Amino acid sequence: MCSSAIFVFGIAIILHVTQGNLGDIANHLIQKREISNQFPYLAKLGYQTKFGLIWGCTGALTFPTNTILTANFCISQKAYGGNLNIVQIENRNYSVLEKKVVTDEIGAVILDKNTDSAKACILKNPSIPVNTTAIIAGWGGMSPENQLHGTINKELAESMVTVLEVSKQTIKVQSTSDSPCFADRGGPLQIPSKDPECRYNVIGFLKEWKNCGEPNSFGTYIF
Ligand SMILES: *[C@@H]1O[C@H](CO)[C@@H](O)[C@H](O)[C@H]1NC(C)=O
Ligand SMILES: *[C@@H]1O[C@H](CO)[C@@H](O)[C@H](O)[C@H]1NC(C)=O
Repeated sequence: MCSSAIFVFGIAIILHVTQGNLGDIANHLIQKREISNQFPYLAKLGYQTKFGLIWGCTGALTFPTNTILTANFCISQKAYGGNLNIVQIENRNYSVLEKKVVTDEIGAVILDKNTDSAKACILKNPSIPVNTTAIIAGWGGMSPENQLHGTINKELAESMVTVLEVSKQTIKVQSTSDSPCFADRGGPLQIPSKDPECRYNVIGFLKEWKNCGEPNSFGTYIF
């Protein structure tokens, strides 16, 4: 219901601006809206540092309703030399109530209040065959400035990856298009879900990536 309403609104924008170069802008807006609607559970994690606020990591909102899972690096005291204290989901801000280590690799961020945004399901110990196609998404930027300060891109982007290798706690993947950058750290690796409660199953969280922003590069997800 919700996504078709947005789609109809998108068509209305296209019809309105087919003459002139506003058409490109409108198409761009529609694409952005569709992507953000596709991943309503993606969370931007913000760090207060001496350089100001840095949106330095990504996480996934999951059940129960006020819990975000991410990589352990993202909840550590040393992340970006700052303190993780603000989270943004669907452009709404939340304060951080608590940070918890869940496993050697995974951390949880508990928000100060519940959110009604849609959740992702988490597959524990996923059995994922080699060559499975999965999806990644995040706001990570690739400009030199972004690499230095870890600041985040304004636009949410998604990319397809292929699973190369699955071991005890890691999934290695290769991107087929764009690859993640710094601020995508902690962000989810996901496959479509059959569960009506969640569009995607999260099967891992980004630990590291070679060559930010380049196609056919390699990443390691942890679970
Ligand atoms: C969320 O917090 C950021 C950083 O403080 C701020 O720039 C933004 O305006 C806030 N957004 C809302 C909707 O309050
Ligand atoms: C995965 O795909 C590659 C390239 O298409 C193929 O060579 C390989 O045999 C596949 N591996 C498995 C386990 O299906």
